[in-house]
Amino acid sequence: MSSPTRTVLVTGSAKRLGREIALALAHAGWQVAVHYRDSVEDARRTSRECAEISGNSSTFRANLGNETAVRNLVPKVVAHFGHLDAVVNSASTFEHDDVSSFGFAAMEKHMRSNAGAAILLAQALHSHVQERRGGGDAAARGAVVNLLDQKLWNQNPDFFSYTLSKAALEAATTMLALALAPTLRVVGVAPGLTLTSTLLTDAQFQERHKMALLERSSTPEDVAATVRFALDNRSITGTTLLVDGGQHLMRFERDFSLM
Ligand SMILES: NC(=O)c1ccc[n+]([C@@H]2O[C@H](COP(=O)([O-])OP(=O)(O)OC[C@H]3O[C@@H](n4cnc5c(N)ncnc54)[C@H](OP(=O)(O)O)[C@@H]3O)[C@@H](O)[C@H]2O)c1
Repeated sequence: MSSPTRTVLVTGSAKRLGREIALALAHAGWQVAVHYRDSVEDARRTSRECAEISGNSSTFRANLGNETAVRNLVPKVVAHFGHLDAVVNSASTFEHDDVSSFGFAAMEKHMRSNAGAAILLAQALHSHVQERRGGGDAAARGAVVNLLDQKLWNQNPDFFSYTLSKAALEAATTMLALALAPTLRVVGVAPGLTLTSTLLTDAQFQERHKMALLERSSTPEDVAATVRFALDNRSITGTTLLVDGGQHLMRFERDFSLM
């Protein structure tokens, strides 16, 4: 009996880095569940392109700040594809606050979507793969990749709640790897400055992208290739691959978008 096509859920994959990851995984033969919240047209386009590459894809909407919606996501993907092998947690809330504007509302918003949702999706994938193992597929294994950020190793006080939520996700990566082995591997991938934001002009982005030991930070292709590697390499768990041209070894007083 041939094994079924590997299926991956990539959160926030309508556009930007999530889309690059979804397309790279489709090129590697994965069928991709394209998760989105608001970007429905972009999600459909990503999913269409993934399907053209690997034969099958579908879109799934969920607000990752809503616990019920998060809990329903893996069951919906499994109902559609029949099985799920991996989750890539790329979706992320990224809103500015600092120590003077910090409050529980901003903290909760970032913690829910950036850390809590990723943990619940790992929990759901673990239950699903365990069921498969109990149901006769004893070799079933799964993997989770959490998108982190080089700024955890090179901190500044900008984007305070975002950074806290990524620090929580980095700690969760270790704890989940311990708790969910041997059924799941859990790996962090931490990009450097990869895509611009509305706060930067093109010239500012180009200049800051070069502020790296290797004189270039990461490209979307670099990050997507690392996610693919993390999903394929069966001996990596509980650690983070930094893909940032060495930015984590440097010292930046402010966030790139506020320098
Ligand atoms: N871009 C970079 O240079 C960079 C650098 C370091 C780390 N990273 C990390 O890499 C990952 C991808 O980065 P990115 O720049 O592509 O991310 P992004 O554009 O900031 O966000 C990706 C998607 O996340 C979704 N999202 C946000 N809040 C959500 C919520 N509550 N529920 C569901 N979806 C939600 C949005 O989907 P909709 O549009 O459908 O609403 C958005 O398109 C992130 O985890 C980020 O922290 C990125």
